[in-house]
Amino acid sequence: MNPSLRVVVSRRIFPDLIEALQRQFVVVANQDDHAWAPGELAAALRDADAALIAGGERVDEALLAQCPRLKVVANIAVGYNNIDLAACTRHGVLATNTPDVLNEATADHAWALLLAAARRVGESERWLRSGHWKRWTFEMFNGADVSGTTLGVLGMGRIGRAIARRAAGFSMRVIYHNRQRLPAAQEGGAQYVALDELFAQSDHLVLVVPYSQAVHHIVGAEQLARMKRSAVLVNIARGGVVDDAALVAALREGRIAAAGLDVYENEPALHPGFLELENVVLTPHIASSTRATRTAMATLASDNVRAALAGQVPPSLLNPEVLGNRRR
Ligand code: DGY
Repeated sequence: MNPSLRVVVSRRIFPDLIEALQRQFVVVANQDDHAWAPGELAAALRDADAALIAGGERVDEALLAQCPRLKVVANIAVGYNNIDLAACTRHGVLATNTPDVLNEATADHAWALLLAAARRVGESERWLRSGHWKRWTFEMFNGADVSGTTLGVLGMGRIGRAIARRAAGFSMRVIYHNRQRLPAAQEGGAQYVALDELFAQSDHLVLVVPYSQAVHHIVGAEQLARMKRSAVLVNIARGGVVDDAALVAALREGRIAAAGLDVYENEPALHPGFLELENVVLTPHIASSTRATRTAMATLASDNVRAALAGQVPPSLLNPEVLGNRRR
């Protein structure tokens, strides 16, 4: 153990992962269920050499200016819109994320939301649990077909491709939109379409696009109006990709059939309209949450920290331009 290196873990993670870090470093871990407020995070990181953080923690100029020893910020998430990479580079701080290890679990969850929303699983279960089931009727909870329909994917990266692969089992046509068309070898038979066409043609549309200002509210009232009235929208990307107020209105007025959501604009707060609707399935940002995947994510984040503190290049470094100027 190196007693001069302090590693802060901002969220409660599995004890074996903390123990592994404790064998090498002095570890300060948040043991509470509540996320540290920005002031608490800054106080915890003031004399830290490394931080393992969750995607909800903001790392920006103001925080970095208070953390003179910090050498690496390791996000336990693939999305890193919470980290100001330019500010990290200016301060000589390495930033890392956890790509790939969560592709399959996250793709599985997108399908769980899609199927649950299309086949009205949450709604019918709530109805059953409330004691309403007295007799079977022909028209009970008629849902939308999934097999043989068209799946749209906005953001055909590694997770998007894992979602698209699963569509083969449902004999679906897959269309996608990215800023740039993929090389044919990576398309896996999916068809590239313009953004407007993606909204118009998809029977089921999954949002996986990484968040940036450029895609803020890329799904708003106008785009929802282009979708089929029978369409199902799934968001496993980030809050802010969808205009939640516009989505509540579209769901309430039946302008699209249903939605499955894992992420929200102001999470953990929800637009109150979602809670009043039956045609939306809501999960609390858990798309990557299997025990094995969360272990793999935190292990990769820990490996990033180990490499950074050993003066090596971390396996999933986000700002390689920092290397000439990194803090030692
Ligand atoms: C990710 O890895 O980006 C997930 O959304 C968890 O934050």
